[in-house]
Amino acid sequence: MKIRIALITSISLLITCAAFFVPANLAAQSPLTDSQIRDKATNLLRQMTLEEKVAQLSQLPGMSLPEFKENVTQPMEEVLKQHGAGSILWVSDPKEINRLQHVAVEQTRLHIPVLFGLDVIHGYHTIFPAPIAMASSWDTKMVEAAQATAAQESRAAGIQWTFAPMVDIARDARWGRMVEGAGEDPYLGAAMARAQVLGFQGKTLGAPDRVVACAKHFAGYGAADAGRDYDSSYIPEEQMWNTYLPPFKAAVDAGVGTLMSAYMDLNDVPATGNRWLLHDVLRDAWNFQGFVVSDAFAVRSLRIHGYARDPQDAAHKAFTAGLNMDMASGTYLKYLPIELQQNNISMQQIDAAVLPILETKFRLGLFDHPYIDESRIEPTLNGPAHRQQARQAVQRSVVLLRNQAGLLPLNKTNTIHSIAVIGPLADAHNDLLSMWGALVKPGPTVSVLQGVKEKAGPTIHVEYAHGPNIRRTIPSPFEGIPMTAALQEQPAQTEQEAQQSIQDAVALARQSDVAILVLGEIDLMSGEYASRSSLKLSNGQEELLEAVSATGKPVVLVLINGRPLDISWASEHVPAILEAWYPGNQGGNGIADVLFGDANPSAHLPVSWPRSAGGEPLYYNHNLTQNPETNPDFKSRYWDNPNSPLYPFGYGLSYTSFSFDNLKVTPTVSTAGVIEVSADVTNTGSRSGDAVVQLYIHQRAGSASRPVRQLKGFERVPLEPGAKRTIHFTLGKDELQFWSPSEKKWVVEPEQFDVWVGGDSTAALHGEFRLTQ
Ligand code: NOJ
Repeated sequence: MKIRIALITSISLLITCAAFFVPANLAAQSPLTDSQIRDKATNLLRQMTLEEKVAQLSQLPGMSLPEFKENVTQPMEEVLKQHGAGSILWVSDPKEINRLQHVAVEQTRLHIPVLFGLDVIHGYHTIFPAPIAMASSWDTKMVEAAQATAAQESRAAGIQWTFAPMVDIARDARWGRMVEGAGEDPYLGAAMARAQVLGFQGKTLGAPDRVVACAKHFAGYGAADAGRDYDSSYIPEEQMWNTYLPPFKAAVDAGVGTLMSAYMDLNDVPATGNRWLLHDVLRDAWNFQGFVVSDAFAVRSLRIHGYARDPQDAAHKAFTAGLNMDMASGTYLKYLPIELQQNNISMQQIDAAVLPILETKFRLGLFDHPYIDESRIEPTLNGPAHRQQARQAVQRSVVLLRNQAGLLPLNKTNTIHSIAVIGPLADAHNDLLSMWGALVKPGPTVSVLQGVKEKAGPTIHVEYAHGPNIRRTIPSPFEGIPMTAALQEQPAQTEQEAQQSIQDAVALARQSDVAILVLGEIDLMSGEYASRSSLKLSNGQEELLEAVSATGKPVVLVLINGRPLDISWASEHVPAILEAWYPGNQGGNGIADVLFGDANPSAHLPVSWPRSAGGEPLYYNHNLTQNPETNPDFKSRYWDNPNSPLYPFGYGLSYTSFSFDNLKVTPTVSTAGVIEVSADVTNTGSRSGDAVVQLYIHQRAGSASRPVRQLKGFERVPLEPGAKRTIHFTLGKDELQFWSPSEKKWVVEPEQFDVWVGGDSTAALHGEFRLTQ
């Protein structure tokens, strides 16, 4: 049962779909003003019965599920015909979407269209790099444009609501869902949240080629105990405000239409029934005007958590906490009418919950144009421009971690005549897409082997060896069922077969001038239900790497994965390491562009890279403590490993080099609380490339201990060889304030601050300023 729940929770299956396109007559922005939309929604609400209202508060699963049937025995379509529905999820075949929409619009009393929701996380047909990869680009414009393309494609195929962006801060690489977010930092996380909301929705919701975004999982899901997915989170209030909430706040400020509540207990109160989160923070403090949907079955689960005494109590607690829509559990459908009859809730409360759902549908133009034009799908989905955009996104997202003696870029003009491409992910296709990318409607995917062959051309001989198969030790619940058929493990092998595959790979490497090893994690090893206790390269991959390295041939390690892995050995013995994350369906091409120098890598880590799983959780913006900071004899908090990261947050190499100097801080003493910082960045190498200029601050004293460094500004800067640019940052209230646990409020304190500018979180170029009262 447990497995089944987890499984269904995440199924955003894709039933084969043909594509389509928004007709030109839909191309105009919704002409309605906010108050007109409010009037229309209010008028409609006045005509609605209680049952019709509760139907709008319900999201129906697009398949028959026992969890739904516990509460609602009729088939989904019968439920839809009776009173309509707020939304349907996990249906993605455009024909089926149109058919169900006809039922909603033509067969229900008030003709209210349905909102179709799906997990379009980093692309629908054109699959972009996974969110952690896109965050590594530090390129908000690129990220916004990628999600605009994802919106265009999915809207064309009938999906008007994506369950993205995931803006959970993740400080522990053991947590499987780190891949879906922007990493560990609240400032970078907020910037990526903003960019993605703007990409999905546009500046104002209503354009026919955009979708409604859903910032998730509100809030604190990334802090699951020891990185175990779904486990409880215990987060003090100051960490909530200073670390976990800022990306959600940024999404709300960018106009995000919806939020999704998280599964887990937050400080013993499940997020889905947590009034502090859903009401005090979201509505009172942030004035959020949209609506909140639960995660799948999470209303029903309030009972499993030991929070609600029975399903009616679950409906009561979620609803009165401020949750508008019940995802897939039918608990609201069955129990909210009873709650009203028993006067436990009022009609006024129900109306307030329904209103933003109706408004969203009006805003999207669904009442005027509920259907999709199936004949227009193909042209929208298959444009070469989208493929090119995805390829550039890969080039901008891969992080060069190590490059001894300039092994990269590979020089195809003279020294290399043969290349061995080795590894269980070297010719992988679906695995380059990540779990969600593989489950939507991905276009053809270029493997690393294909990309390298294409790039090497006829003069360089490229051969391939698979190496050992990789599999999860405990199988994923997503494997082996029709709905998630795209997610597959590699077949089981005997020890002898695995050893033979390593020997074959070694033999191939011996005959070649260079070996490219493509190792990491299949798609099922990262994502939902994919936490792990070790970060080591699994299933003999480490042995393969060491054996191939022992041939003495130059080795390039390309990592395909959703989280940092334990590459301590490789970081000392493998000359070149490229972190490619899950790069999407142009992965092989984009990686080959970087390996051969047609693109210069410029991405930087959005997470601190641990030395081993034992070093987690790990984050750069920790507080200072007596030891080891003030005592040189204390080198590490551990006796068996340094507690520093293997690679720091913000780190990334390039084929060129950059210097940072001429830091100016104005004024150095300020009463106004606005500080201008500038620094020069120079391309000191011989190739053009992008620097990612990062600004960090530290407040030296105050009403609370402050982190050793905090990112407060960044800019990705393209520079020709020898070129120099002065980069300007402004530090104002937003950057200088923090939520003080002693004051229980946001404060900007009159204290001394450090400021650093450079290429990662260890930047050395330093200045100071003081805020006065
Ligand atoms: C469960 C996942 O936690 C959530 O991220 C997803 O959006 C829903 N299922 C819907 O598929």
